[in-house]
Amino acid sequence: MRVLGIETSCDETGVAVYDTEAGILGQALHSQIAMHARHGGVVPELASRDHIQRLIPLVEQVMAEAQLAPTDIDGIAYTAGPGLAGALLVGASAARTLAFGWGVPALAVHHMEGHLLAPLLEDDAPTFPFVALLVSGGHTQLLDARGLGDYHLLGESLDDAAGEAFDKAAKMMGLGYPGGPIISALAEHGDPERFTFPRPMTDRPGLDFSFSGLKTYCLNTIAACGGAAALSDQDRADIARAFEEAVVETLVIKCRRAMQQTGHGSLVMAGGVSANRRLRARLAEALGSGTRALAPVRVCYPRPQLCTDNGVMIAFAGALRMAAGEQQQDLGIAVRARWP
Ligand code: KG4
Ligand code: ZN
Repeated sequence: MRVLGIETSCDETGVAVYDTEAGILGQALHSQIAMHARHGGVVPELASRDHIQRLIPLVEQVMAEAQLAPTDIDGIAYTAGPGLAGALLVGASAARTLAFGWGVPALAVHHMEGHLLAPLLEDDAPTFPFVALLVSGGHTQLLDARGLGDYHLLGESLDDAAGEAFDKAAKMMGLGYPGGPIISALAEHGDPERFTFPRPMTDRPGLDFSFSGLKTYCLNTIAACGGAAALSDQDRADIARAFEEAVVETLVIKCRRAMQQTGHGSLVMAGGVSANRRLRARLAEALGSGTRALAPVRVCYPRPQLCTDNGVMIAFAGALRMAAGEQQQDLGIAVRARWP
């Protein structure tokens, strides 16, 4: 099964071809980050327009580089949600139309399933069942993944997603977009002793998260330093360090609980925030060697390019589902901006 995957849910146009025998045959990605950075965040209408301009040339590029003709493709998978409605419609329209023109089936893929399955693209990939920590700009979820499509929500953020919290904290300090990588780089030079931020919702049982309180804490800390305009480079680094540690430690505590609760031996981490180096190191340290209460856990994540949005994860999720016999039954072009 050889599937063309199309991702346009937010600010990356991603295209790839995945073959269930041969693996990734080709991939291309255009990031709109530079375009949106001027506005301090993603502008939905600009995102849609840019996807329209980039998508077909990227499909042509991937097909040419992989030396593939339309007759070599068995199906087209596209992100149908969740995401920005206009951006999703660009990918869905293109995918559905190409599939009709090429006489192959199409399949709507859930963006978060793409993220969840991405770690399975790596060598020595984990097998089901495992716990998945999905941490992106729009989601923070812990899932019990028992098989393809058999996912059970263990806990999720009741307000801001972890990535969103990074982005907002960066904005408060007058830093650029997206905030995650910037905060993470600054935190390297931060003094871990200067500020301590709270670890929200870790003092009560359960696997849900809440990150919006960290925003207020961050704002108050900035105010105590004299306001955003008065921050020195060291102030910013120290705040970034305390903020990152609070998010990371909160995620680590909840992941440990999820491993104890399910008894699974592997934790799979995906989504943009899973690129965070401190999070990777702390999870490996906290879960890798085990304790009296918890057997050693294998922590797996995708290579950095497959952590953030990309076409490969959509081609892969689509190929697995199509190989299992699934395909879209109608010619409709439908997207779901919200998709539980
Ligand atoms: O998965 P993704 O590319 O897009 C969504 O589906 O949301 O995730 C983007 C999010 C952004 O909020 C960004 O700030 C965050 O991932 N991010 C990071 C890092 N790299 C990206 N957060 C923390 N540390 C990083 N190194
Ligand atoms: Zn994503």
